[in-house]
Amino acid sequence: MKKISTLLTAALALQLASCTNNSETKKEEATAQLKAKAGISEQPFGTFEGKPVTEYTLTNASGMQVSIINYGGAISKIITPDNKGKMGDVVFGFANLEGFQQKANPYFGGLIGRFGNRIAKATFSLDGKKYTLAANNGVNALHGGNKGYDKVYWNIEKQAGDSSLKLSYTSPDGEEGYPGTLKMEVIYTLSANNELRIEYSATTDKATPVNLTSHAYFNLSAGTDSTILGHELMMKAAQYTPADSTLIPTGQIEAVTGGPMDFNTAKPIGRDITNVKGGYDHNWVLNRTGSGLELAAKLVHPASGRVMEVFTTEPGLQFYSGNFLDGTLTNTKDGAKYVWHGALCLETQHFPDSPNQPSFPSTILKPGETYHHTCVYKFSTQQ
Ligand code: GLA
Repeated sequence: MKKISTLLTAALALQLASCTNNSETKKEEATAQLKAKAGISEQPFGTFEGKPVTEYTLTNASGMQVSIINYGGAISKIITPDNKGKMGDVVFGFANLEGFQQKANPYFGGLIGRFGNRIAKATFSLDGKKYTLAANNGVNALHGGNKGYDKVYWNIEKQAGDSSLKLSYTSPDGEEGYPGTLKMEVIYTLSANNELRIEYSATTDKATPVNLTSHAYFNLSAGTDSTILGHELMMKAAQYTPADSTLIPTGQIEAVTGGPMDFNTAKPIGRDITNVKGGYDHNWVLNRTGSGLELAAKLVHPASGRVMEVFTTEPGLQFYSGNFLDGTLTNTKDGAKYVWHGALCLETQHFPDSPNQPSFPSTILKPGETYHHTCVYKFSTQQ
């Protein structure tokens, strides 16, 4: 009896196989292969302060990959398909740890804090006390100081399932001049539908300013175009915060109305960039309707059809057009030359210099509160 039913099943399978056309079978095989590869793999990436640095790669069932390293919690690779299915790396980065550690590394892929962006004259007052930070950007403080969170060792734990990593770092009281012990967790998740989700949370034992962000440099051409000037950008922002020559906001909030800062309707980045002194490096005030995750921006590379949408819970978006890249970085991936305007950053965050700007949304985290920030970079393609 058992033999007969086995034979029948085999005959049925044969019949079914002959009905299915060849290309469908091939597609199914390819999908099955990718599904088999989905998961988290690990590659040694050097040693930092006596601890092993590992490159963790998340792969989803459609083959998209995101790699993260312990040093700086940095994103080292994002590999996505173009509209013909060809995979390519859409972020700038380095071939090895020495690359990430070079002095001139402009924060490639790193986690930024305690305060992302600038604090005027490297000082702020809180609860009647004056705090002095390192002036590491002219007279101002930038991206957390001389040793910001992009230059520390993050512990990484693989989460249950095969798509998430949990990073943690505790910043001691007084580190880089900031008050309070800040305990942080950052969860990177790669979803089945090609979304990279970054979820930040933090608690403190003393009131402190907190503004965490990610500093990935995107070029959706994956090595084909040397600059991002041909990428088309839309940002959902009717206003921005004008800044002085040292990029500190003047405190005004200005309408973008039709000028070079207006990205409400998508336009090529190169269209108006020459009318903005130094290039784009400003904070846009997002048109928010609530406190949840909302679309902030959409970036398109027309030739490859790659699309990246940015969603966030934050009030601001720093759009930086790679104005300080000059082709001199070493140890780059495949020896690439990362030239002026070679890539761009879309950093979801609070407004720059918030600790000194009483009219901006507050960035002060108090004991008993939890800082939360979610950012999603969603990749897709168009024809
Ligand atoms: C941020 C700043 C820029 C620049 C880069 C790093 O995006 O806004 O001015 O400092 O980081 O080079």
